[in-house]
Amino acid sequence: MEPISVCIVGAGEYTVGYVPTAHGAASDKPAGVVALTCFELRRQGLVDRIVLCDMYGRRMPEVRATVQRKIADVYDGLDTCLECFPEDDVDQEATAYLRALDTMSPGDAVIIFVPDDLHASVAVAAAERRLHVLLAKPAVKTLDEHRQVLDAVAATGVLACVEFHKRWDIMYSDARNRARQLGPFSHFSALMTQPKQQLDTFRLWAGLRSDISYYLNSHHIDLHSWMVGRSSRPERVVAMAATGVAEQKLGRPCEDTISLMVQWRNGADGSYGTALYTASWVAAKGDCHTQQGFFYMGQKGEMRVDQAHRGYSGASDTEGYASYNPLYMRYTPDANGRFAGQSGYGFMSIAAFLKAAGDLNRGVTSLGELRRRGELAMMVDSLPVTAILHAGRLSLDKGAPVRILYDGTAWRNADRGKVDGVVTDDGDRSSSDDWTVPIGLEVEAGADTSGNGDGDGDGDGDGDGGDGSASGRALDGASGPCP
Ligand SMILES: NC(=O)c1ccc[n+]([C@@H]2O[C@H](COP(=O)([O-])OP(=O)(O)OC[C@H]3O[C@@H](n4cnc5c(N)ncnc54)[C@H](O)[C@@H]3O)[C@@H](O)[C@H]2O)c1
Repeated sequence: MEPISVCIVGAGEYTVGYVPTAHGAASDKPAGVVALTCFELRRQGLVDRIVLCDMYGRRMPEVRATVQRKIADVYDGLDTCLECFPEDDVDQEATAYLRALDTMSPGDAVIIFVPDDLHASVAVAAAERRLHVLLAKPAVKTLDEHRQVLDAVAATGVLACVEFHKRWDIMYSDARNRARQLGPFSHFSALMTQPKQQLDTFRLWAGLRSDISYYLNSHHIDLHSWMVGRSSRPERVVAMAATGVAEQKLGRPCEDTISLMVQWRNGADGSYGTALYTASWVAAKGDCHTQQGFFYMGQKGEMRVDQAHRGYSGASDTEGYASYNPLYMRYTPDANGRFAGQSGYGFMSIAAFLKAAGDLNRGVTSLGELRRRGELAMMVDSLPVTAILHAGRLSLDKGAPVRILYDGTAWRNADRGKVDGVVTDDGDRSSSDDWTVPIGLEVEAGADTSGNGDGDGDGDGDGDGGDGSASGRALDGASGPCP
């Protein structure tokens, strides 16, 4: 089997466990996830070259020293060689990734873990070079960016996915399958929080270039969308935020906690569902880095998962009491000193993407087959997630509810046969892509059109409505669609 080469863009917490703050990398990913996974896959013969790219060349010696200390010195048998961009004597080069991508060959893979507002441009550059793309969540920030990536990917036929690793958590994927037996969707709620130190790690972009909803709500919005498939769609979003801690810590506007309340509509009978996604980065330090879980209610039953507490805890003189989750990343080497985390969902998510990319290169699978299987979070199916996150940001900025538009129409029960195609037993539509493909957003009338609904400054979200959106309508004051 021909190994695949990988370019990792972003040399930070998630890729290599490098965080130049007093706190360092989070306790649930101390050695990062992406590079370690790629080193293990290289040991298995699936990965060849590994290129690491950031914008700060002078940091690279420290990054490589981190990799040496946290990975090479810890695990036997891993080749941790990295080709780095930019060169060690370069202060800053924001487009070094273009040079790095130019060293790759068509069919290689790019894994993107840079601040959210850069995802789209790096992904488009990668797709244009015929490289398969795995984007950190949130894939992108706006529907317009999402379409730019889809266009670039469609033009070259590469695979583009979002790294939603919770899909490989065995309880989450089981819940996804069980949801189909619980009747039409009724309610979903998720809470995901991380301690305040995360704001130090993300000091350069938190509240400026992205927010806590994009960062953490994205996980459970994807999970929920994946659970309901095409049987339900999000139609209306109202967002609210708590403030106080982050603003004081960072000295600028930044939400502490964001809740998105979303109205969903079921295709089979037109009934409604509701969802509440809440994310925070001002939690107190607790027994684990991330408190997380969800509650799902269908019209015929319900499920809940506490993803933070797996019935495995311990205590040590240095760390105190802790809840462990080796189901995510298992860092403790085995008795032979080898990496032993091949079954962790953090590992599996990246491995599954690279395997799919390799299979595509060999012609043993197709994009259509991967989409039908539905395991990978393919960009082409992820528009509802982007629509909810983008609508949430707009709702905060405008101080009003935001509607998600579908082909300019509301749900039409009477026309369903014509509009939506075949309805299968579980309400899924086999030929009804349009029914769940958002084409724009519309801020409801009565909005605060000053653009400071909440005084936040993520440098985006508002004012990006005028437009050229697929709906062809322009943003007109208090009410208008956004791409
Ligand atoms: N940290 C996590 O637990 C985690 C988990 C899943 C997804 N993510 C996502 O990962 C992304 C950020 O990565 P992180 O968490 O490792 O954050 P981070 O801040 O530790 O690292 C981001 C890196 O990107 C680099 N960067 C900035 N601009 C660049 C450019 N123009 N070219 C190349 N590199 C550039 C920064 O220098 C930094 O090293 C975000 O989209 C975030 O939502 C993070």
